[in-house]
Amino acid sequence: SKGGYRHFMLKEIHEQSQVIAATLEGRLGDHQVLVNSFGADAASLFEGVRQVHIIACGTSYHAGMVARYWIEKLAGVPTQVEVASEYRYREVVVPEGTLFVTLSQSGETADTLAALRFANQRDYLGSLAICNVPGSSLVRESDLTLMTQAGPEIGVASTKAFTTQLVALLLLALALGRVRGANGEHAPLVQGLRELPGVINQVLALDGEIEQLSMAFAEKHHALFLGRGAHFPIALEGALKLKEISYIHAEAYPAGELKHGPLALVDSEMPVIAVAPNDELLEKLKSNLQEVRARGGELFVFADESIRMETNEHLHVLRVPAVSEALAPIVYTIPLQLLAYHVAVLKGTDVDQPRNLAKSVTVE
Ligand code: F6R
Repeated sequence: SKGGYRHFMLKEIHEQSQVIAATLEGRLGDHQVLVNSFGADAASLFEGVRQVHIIACGTSYHAGMVARYWIEKLAGVPTQVEVASEYRYREVVVPEGTLFVTLSQSGETADTLAALRFANQRDYLGSLAICNVPGSSLVRESDLTLMTQAGPEIGVASTKAFTTQLVALLLLALALGRVRGANGEHAPLVQGLRELPGVINQVLALDGEIEQLSMAFAEKHHALFLGRGAHFPIALEGALKLKEISYIHAEAYPAGELKHGPLALVDSEMPVIAVAPNDELLEKLKSNLQEVRARGGELFVFADESIRMETNEHLHVLRVPAVSEALAPIVYTIPLQLLAYHVAVLKGTDVDQPRNLAKSVTVE
C-alpha cells in the first residue's frame, strides 16, 4: 500500500530515514564499524585488499561512483567503478588483491550478474555483493554480502535503495580503513552515521519548499546539474531521476567541466541545478555559478545552510542542514529526488511506472 502517499515513489523517499537506520542496525560498534557485518570471513579477506573494482548499472552505478571517493579517502585503497555492460565485454586487467564489488537493488540485473560470473572465473581476491533482495542470484553467487535494508521498492525510479547502498558503501570504506589500521580518526564519522537518520528527517521536511521550486521546471525541456567531487555522481543521479520520471532532458557535469563545452547550452531556457555542500570545493563551484549567471541561466543551488549567498529572482538557494563532508552525498540526494518527483507530478506523468522502463532489467 502507498500508506497515504500519492505515489510509491513519494512513500519510498519518505521512508529513507527509517531504512537508513535499519541498514546501520547492528553494524556499528562504539567508535567503529563492525567488520563482520560483511560476513564472518570479511576481516581476513579485507586484509588482503589492494584495490577495489565496483560494478553496477544505472542508479546503483552512481552509488559506486560516490564510493570511490570514500574508499580512496578513508581507506587509501585505489578504486575503479564501471557500468556492468561495459566491464563484462572488455579485457579487464585484474591486479593481485582486487576485491570485486557489485551493487544492485534487485540482485537480478542481467549485466551485473554476468559481470560477477565473469569475475568468478578470474583471479579476484573475492566478491562482495551489496544488495537489497535476500536470496537473489547476486547474493547467492558472491563470497561476501551486505544486505541493504530498504524493504521492497515498488517505484521504478530507485530512491531508498540508492541511499541505503550509499550507507552500505560508507560502511565498506570504514571497514577497509579499519583493517588497514585506521581507527580512532573515523570515530566522528561513525557518530555522524548514527545521527544520519535524524538529519534525513530534517531534509525531508524541505518537501514543501522543493514543491514550490519545481514549478520553474514544468515548462522546461532541458536541465543541467552540476556538482564537484563526490557530488558529481549525486548530480548524475539527480539528472537521471529527472529524465526518468518527468521526461525532461537532463545532463550532469562536474562543475569544472562547464567551460569546456556545456556552457554553450546555457541560456534563460536552461535551468542549472548545483549541489553545493560546504566543502573545500565550494569556492570553485561559486565561480562556476557566476559563469552561469552571466549567461542569463536560472540557477537553483542546494547549499549548506551556513553558506552566505545572495539570492535574487534568478538565483534560488535551498538551504540544506549542515552535515559533515563524508555524509553530504547521502543528504543531498534527497532534495534532488523530491525535485524530480514534484516536477513529474506537475507534468502528469506516470511517476511509479515511467514509460519504456522496467523495475528489474533481467535482459541484456
Ligand atoms: C533508476 C533505476 C535503474 C537501476 C538499474 C540497476 O532509477 O532504478 O537505473 O538502478 O536498472 O538495477 P539494480 O540496482 O536492481 O541492479
